[in-house]
Amino acid sequence: MDTLLPTRFATAARVAAIAPFHVMEVQTAARALEAAGRSVIHMEIGEPDFPTPAPVVAAAQRAIAGGDIYYTSALGIPALRQAIARHYGERLGVTVAPERIVVTAGSSAALLLLMALLVDRDEQVLLSDPGYPCNRHFVRMLEGEPVGIPAGPDTNYQLSADLIERHWSPRTRGVLLASPSNPTGTAVPADEMRRIAATVARLGGRLIVDEIYLGLTYDGGELARPTSVLSAAGADADDLFVVSSFSKYFNMTGWRLGWIVAPERHVRDLEKLAQNLYISPATVSQRAALACFEPETIAILEERRRAFRDRRDFLVPALRELGFGIPVTPSGGFFVYADCSRFAADSQQFCRDVLAQAGVAITPGVDFGTHRAASHVRFAYTIERTKLEEGVARLARFLGGRRPPDG
Ligand SMILES: Cc1ncc(COP(=O)(O)O)c(C=O)c1O
Repeated sequence: MDTLLPTRFATAARVAAIAPFHVMEVQTAARALEAAGRSVIHMEIGEPDFPTPAPVVAAAQRAIAGGDIYYTSALGIPALRQAIARHYGERLGVTVAPERIVVTAGSSAALLLLMALLVDRDEQVLLSDPGYPCNRHFVRMLEGEPVGIPAGPDTNYQLSADLIERHWSPRTRGVLLASPSNPTGTAVPADEMRRIAATVARLGGRLIVDEIYLGLTYDGGELARPTSVLSAAGADADDLFVVSSFSKYFNMTGWRLGWIVAPERHVRDLEKLAQNLYISPATVSQRAALACFEPETIAILEERRRAFRDRRDFLVPALRELGFGIPVTPSGGFFVYADCSRFAADSQQFCRDVLAQAGVAITPGVDFGTHRAASHVRFAYTIERTKLEEGVARLARFLGGRRPPDG
């Protein structure tokens, strides 16, 4: 259609390469059903249902009342950079200098800044397929080439050192992975992460690890300490980039605040890029986030982490019982990536049917790549346990009356 438009209405070629979120289609259809009086169980939503912890809200109110609303350094206020660095020491057992912390406008801005820092035209970035959809678009926006590598249960739906080596080309600039991941909730084991960091370093590329869901991990004893790539990577840790966020573990999605742990020699360039792209992260959000690391706030967040774990421990076996394929138990985040091929050949149509007939909203695999996307759906457990139980009961009734695609 665009080619028929007068030139003055034409848009840049990159726009056509950016896909919308299909989950929004699900959400719009779900809202329309609700407006018509139907009840919908929302298992498509990719953000915590918990409100921002009260001490954080109170800190924001104090900042606003004090008139503290001016631009900050593009790198973030020093007190927050220090608090994040301390958090790595206290919670994750890894020493990080505050000078390596770059506070950003959500991890979305962090990812975009890193692509702007590292990727030249036509350079390739290796990503897992399935994976977080925006990543390939960030690469494309910077005129790079995203390369989705099919990843299955044998590697926890994650890239491995071996996969990276096999897909490396002279044009490859680096690797971007998320652990735990969206949509699978699965993580790269620490020893594999060390091999990945060493392989990327040996091949002369850059490794970016998105740890946005690291705070929300559930395995290894009573909510054990998660392992950051910064400790797993050993000697290579100083050269890699870690992306994280206040959105998920800290329940602050709308505050738009994240951070990068960068090699120190790149911080000045990141500052320059951030200054030009958005001047500084939101001031009120930064002041509020200082309260994230208070023991009172951490106690609230750990309680919620327990709630997420309980939901996972209910949902995964319940979905398996219904016949969904979940070969790897998700260890973090709040997603379950499930094979629905027993019930339907086209997961997008399956999601439409589940919504219309069962009143349960879930996300089709097509949002996360192309590898076996038509046979997968994503469930989010960002709703309370009783609603999850109702969702599973509705699915059971719906699937009970449905024949397998070839049956
Ligand atoms: C894997 C992953 N990375 C990054 C983001 C972006 O989050 P934010 O910009 O809110 O920090 C998301 C959001 O869902 C995500 O799932």
